[in-house]
Amino acid sequence: MLTKKVEEALVSQIMKEGYSSNLYLAMASWTESEGLEGISKWLYIQADEERLHMLKIVHYVNERGGKAVIPAFEKPPIEFSGVKPMFDKVLAHEEFISTSINDIVAVCEAEKDFTTQNWIQWFVNEQIQEEKSSRAILDKLKILGEGNLYLFDRDILSLRKAEAGAES
Ligand code: FEO
Repeated sequence: MLTKKVEEALVSQIMKEGYSSNLYLAMASWTESEGLEGISKWLYIQADEERLHMLKIVHYVNERGGKAVIPAFEKPPIEFSGVKPMFDKVLAHEEFISTSINDIVAVCEAEKDFTTQNWIQWFVNEQIQEEKSSRAILDKLKILGEGNLYLFDRDILSLRKAEAGAES
């Protein structure tokens, strides 16, 4: 059974993960409309992953006797001022999510809910990877320069494959 505070923290995270999914979906749609096929594919995959994060929490809350409320989501931006500022936003957002996950760990600790504290470790590790991959993309953009979006767009998916290979 979840305590009220742990349940509230998890329900609030459902909203944040769902918003992350919609934010990346909005970015995917924008880049697709700009003809940046590789970047948009990367973002569509990312949006799907965030939806799975949201679902993971929904199932956990319900399985532990809580009520996983599905909230209304804030509308994400429609336009972005460029690929680099967009990925700056991705990194800042992931850092925000990491802080939020760490806050849940702290709530679990205070509430002595060691089961949830143990379960949430998956998200702690996931955030390390997500921040790392956002930084790798920004580094690559810096090397190539924004004037070379063609190469960046072509290579971004191989970056994801390289990460998956390194993790397995
Ligand atoms: Fe599920 Fe990228 O936070």
